[in-house]
Amino acid sequence: MAVDARHLRESATPGQARAVSGSVDERPAIVEARQVEKRYDTGQLEVQALRGVSVSVRVGEMLAIMGPSGSGKTTLLNCLSGLDRIDGGDVVIEGVSLASMSDDERTDYRARRMGFVFQFYNLMPVLSAVENVELPLLVSRVPARRARAQAMDALDMVGLTARADHVPEELSGGQRQRVTIARALVNNPAIVWADEPTGDLDSENAQEIVALMRRLNRERGLTFLVVTHDISVGRATDRIVRMMDGEIVDEEFLEVAE
Ligand SMILES: Nc1ncnc2c1ncn2[C@@H]1O[C@H](COP(=O)(O)OP(=O)(O)O)[C@@H](O)[C@H]1O
Ligand SMILES: [Mg+2]
Repeated sequence: MAVDARHLRESATPGQARAVSGSVDERPAIVEARQVEKRYDTGQLEVQALRGVSVSVRVGEMLAIMGPSGSGKTTLLNCLSGLDRIDGGDVVIEGVSLASMSDDERTDYRARRMGFVFQFYNLMPVLSAVENVELPLLVSRVPARRARAQAMDALDMVGLTARADHVPEELSGGQRQRVTIARALVNNPAIVWADEPTGDLDSENAQEIVALMRRLNRERGLTFLVVTHDISVGRATDRIVRMMDGEIVDEEFLEVAE
């Protein structure tokens, strides 16, 4: 991804975002992927979506995965988070190999320890903001009163207390995405996975969402892996990993000004 790298260097104003040697590298890894391979077999055509990808995500890190459309970003997120099975290599999360878990164990682990944010919100249209946020807790059989209290706390973290009773269509795109982030936070996850979280937002709302994720990362030490093709999102993170044709081709550590 030579083009992107050049663009980043040219647009990185001194003091705003500059490449530094990796202090984040000192922290322990929460996710370790080794030589991960993923193939999609669509009958006639076999697509090698990941060609031996090795990457670690550090505790408390905010990491951006960038690269052109079709380069394997979503596939990598799905494979690292255990949403999708891998065809080779290994993914170790909090010291446990995903391959050693059964489907049920992986599902349970995701519900307990992970949060997800996607481009198109995936909110239930008939449920209010607070009902959407508490839903994963109710599914995990958390008692209703406790679920409601945790959901209100999560909405508070994203600044949406006043909108708790609104259904998604009464909210702006930015507010909907904040509800999604609250839902991702509600189980106090070890890591939040976000796939193009600003992809459906205008630039103002996109900046607000990035700033919110960055604040949650800084203030709560929350680990984020963010897939994005928006360089302004990438630049707000600790590290950009660039993909091309199913491989990691570049890595850049950033230091963002307070
Ligand atoms: N379910 C699928 N079946 C077949 N091919 C797929 C599937 N999902 C992704 N691919 C292919 O895998 C490659 C990587 O896709 P993806 O991870 O979605 O890329 P990105 O998120 O970077 O745009 C692409 O060539 C895409 O067409
Ligand atoms: Mg994608």
